[in-house]
Amino acid sequence: MTKRDILVTSALPNANGSIHLGHLLEHIQTDIWVRFQRMSGQNCIYVCADDTHGTAIMLKAEERNTTPEALIAEIKAEHEADFGDFHISHDNYYSTHSSENEAFSGLIYNKLKQAGQIKTKSVAQLYDPEREIFLADRFIVGTCPKCKADDQYGDNCEACGATYDAMDLINPQSKLSGAEPVEKASTHFFFALSNFTDFLTEWTRSGALQTQVANKLAEWLDAGLKDWDISRDAPYFGIEIPGETGKYFYVWLDAPIGYMASFKNYCDQQGNINFDDYWKSDSQHEVHHFIGKDIINFHALFWPAMLKSADYRTPTKVHAHGFITVNGQKMSKSRGTFINARAYLDHLNPEYLRYYYASKLTASIDDIDINLDDFVQKVNSDLVGKVVNIASRCAGFIKKNYDATLSAEPKSPLIQEFISQSGAIAKLYEEGEYSKLIREVMAMADKANQYIAECEPWVKIKQPGNEIDVHNVCSDGINMYRILIGYLKPVIPSLAEKSEQFLNVPSMHWGDIKKPLVNHKINKFKPIITRAETDKVDAMVAASTETAPTKPAEKVVKADEQTVEGISPQIEFDDFAKVDLRVVTIINAESVEGADKLLRLTLDLGTETRNVFAGIKSKYSPEQLIGKQTVMVANLAPRKMRFGISEGMVLAAGPGGSDIYLLEPHTGAAAGMKVC
Ligand code: 2FM
Ligand code: ZN
Repeated sequence: MTKRDILVTSALPNANGSIHLGHLLEHIQTDIWVRFQRMSGQNCIYVCADDTHGTAIMLKAEERNTTPEALIAEIKAEHEADFGDFHISHDNYYSTHSSENEAFSGLIYNKLKQAGQIKTKSVAQLYDPEREIFLADRFIVGTCPKCKADDQYGDNCEACGATYDAMDLINPQSKLSGAEPVEKASTHFFFALSNFTDFLTEWTRSGALQTQVANKLAEWLDAGLKDWDISRDAPYFGIEIPGETGKYFYVWLDAPIGYMASFKNYCDQQGNINFDDYWKSDSQHEVHHFIGKDIINFHALFWPAMLKSADYRTPTKVHAHGFITVNGQKMSKSRGTFINARAYLDHLNPEYLRYYYASKLTASIDDIDINLDDFVQKVNSDLVGKVVNIASRCAGFIKKNYDATLSAEPKSPLIQEFISQSGAIAKLYEEGEYSKLIREVMAMADKANQYIAECEPWVKIKQPGNEIDVHNVCSDGINMYRILIGYLKPVIPSLAEKSEQFLNVPSMHWGDIKKPLVNHKINKFKPIITRAETDKVDAMVAASTETAPTKPAEKVVKADEQTVEGISPQIEFDDFAKVDLRVVTIINAESVEGADKLLRLTLDLGTETRNVFAGIKSKYSPEQLIGKQTVMVANLAPRKMRFGISEGMVLAAGPGGSDIYLLEPHTGAAAGMKVC
């Protein structure tokens, strides 16, 4: 069989934020596919990069008082560490801010231009006269022209759902300077996408896309393609358009070219891989892009049209996936479900997530829900309870009674049955149907466990005359374990590596799965994986929970309630009098394990001490607080929190973060004194 030459990419993460569960879904999905291809003997190269250009990165650098170059270098190091710790096996992780990307972007643009596919047009846009910058819609706020709601963004109103042109906003303001934007025209460069309608109509049905995706694109193609604005005016952090002054490529032009640039950089490092073999127009090598469904238009319309026009090959396949929700809802910082890679790694084993994602992933673009209870349950029941259990049930007997050596030949017909699934499992990997393949492997694990349970080696070993039987059953069990681990290896590479050490075998290839181990010495079984713990998941969620900065109240109140603008509804004096405010002394303060923001305070009320949890760690360290006085609500009903019971509340003011001010009464006030 000839080897396939395959180049694989995941979408390039933006260089202005951390890697989170959403990125990880895609990189884990890609990495499983890549590892499967490599394990099956294909030449498979996996490249990625940070997507570094655009206004957002430029402004973020300004905000942090640094240069965009320094910012993207810092973020790239963080991204690489995160992906590495999740065992994502990129061959090259590069940057779109590179000489290769500049060269390819210029080259492709010039080819498009020579082919007559670049047009120019004057475009009127809102411009910030103070910051001297054109404003994208998200940088303009104003009053909705339809429902008159204030503080609406440039192109749509969150209050009434209207969409409009930013220029129609009433009293528009630049978010950058607060200045009133002015209308200004400038020349923009357009890629004539509409000229590629026939090509794209055919290409989108060529098998390169999932049917769901091709159907969606057919709607857009039927509605008619518009030419695509590929330029942005200075100031912009990006690649300058060759031959023009003050004009830059829009980040989405150079981002996919970043795939090529990262690959070229890899070829140059390796020396024996030829870039053109993969990218020339008649290449028989394969190029696979893994992306989220939100960026399908860029990868399945603009990108193939650009490649076609510049005389490069088009992608073999674009694999799109759906969005993730956590516990049935969008990821949310206030619910603690916007979980960054590092927050996960601080608490949990990366292979749990790889396994859980695999158990949910299909070849469709349907959304995927991560349920944190289900996550713990599935990891424990499948990986620990079913798979690793097979090895831990059998290994001890082999080691103790049979000189750690497996029997001379497999006896159970299950071994052959499992081996015969190899082709079907491989097909499911190839098609991206990981969820189905996990179900198949777990069905085998159930059979293996049932077989061992029925044979009861732990009973038989105590009865004389069963030595051969027990040897066979346990050797078969170990061989079954080896087959299952082989099938799961692309999903849980580290667990597989530890298993290979235990089995005393070299790194397994797909073909090895078919060859059971006979008369083979194994190593001592050491616990390979521990159970996932709910406490750790809770601690991760607590560490990811951001308390929303206190905004002026925008409350809808009942008609009979009086309100003062921006203030909560009035209460009567009697309501206020119910609150028992006391001066107290903080006699102890300590961090709470697993909670980034909380401190556990011991408060002396004069008559008693209380345990209170306060979300003030972002401002105060425990040492700063011990001995200080503060004010507490002493008659608040105790609240059960994840870390214990909180018996009251201390009073602090401020929007949060490092702007928190604990109320400190005059020193000298006696503990327990009521505040009047
Ligand atoms: O959507 C995003 O996060 C983009 N940075 C993805 C770019 S993928 C490719 F085209 F570069
Ligand atoms: Zn409105």
